Amino acid sequence: MRKKIVAGNWKMNLDYKEGLSLFSEVVNMVNDEVTGNQQVVVCSPFIHLHSLVQLGKGVAKIAVGAQNAHQAESGAYTGEISAKMIRSVGAGYVILGHSERRQYFGETNELLAKKTDTALANDLKPIFCIGETLQERGLGKHFDVIKSQLAEGVFHLNETQFNKLVIAYEPVWAIGTGVTASSAQAQEIHHFIRKEIAAKYSQAIADATTILYGGSCNPTNAPELFAQHDIDGGLIGGASLKSRDFVDIVKVFN
Ligand code: 13P
Repeated sequence: MRKKIVAGNWKMNLDYKEGLSLFSEVVNMVNDEVTGNQQVVVCSPFIHLHSLVQLGKGVAKIAVGAQNAHQAESGAYTGEISAKMIRSVGAGYVILGHSERRQYFGETNELLAKKTDTALANDLKPIFCIGETLQERGLGKHFDVIKSQLAEGVFHLNETQFNKLVIAYEPVWAIGTGVTASSAQAQEIHHFIRKEIAAKYSQAIADATTILYGGSCNPTNAPELFAQHDIDGGLIGGASLKSRDFVDIVKVFN
């Protein structure tokens, strides 16, 4: 059975104290209420990472991740954060290729391939995001977009490396809009992603890859989305900023 994961992406929200307080609530609720084998990942701004790792120590169900990492190992890149730095505070995951990074910071598949290599070389598990815009879907190009994001972003990896990835399908039109993909639309793309992985690597690797859905996921729509055969959890934005909502989504896998 592949791992079920519910990951929160706080984006650029919460000051230091607010972040610690939200995370403490999540830890307590997870300890009290989560009974399954699901993995919870909280992806915070960099400033919280070290403290969250400390607060989450001993709670195996909760891991901490960053939302970006630079492609270089180190060097004269003022204002950037390296994968090694993130790993050094004990974080285990990093979101790469989020559509907001692609859209606002010009991140390309080529750059993301390098970021993925550097993250893996530093023992971070990438949560690699892919997804089409509304315009691309309107033109019927969504399968092509997904195909090239995979081919150019992560299909250069060898099998051992690829095994460490989590893929997140986030249709850009569903992010922060309140419009979620229907469970059938999401399942269709997840199935396509798994087929592409099987064709590139093997059916065994495809079957073992966790593929998350992201985009206006909430406690009400999560049960139906997560019940789809190829949907292995969620990458949660807005609802991850409320402990009750986030943990209720996590509990779909109880
Ligand atoms: P929302 O859940 O706020 O739509 O955001 C999804 C997302 O971008 C998670 O990475």
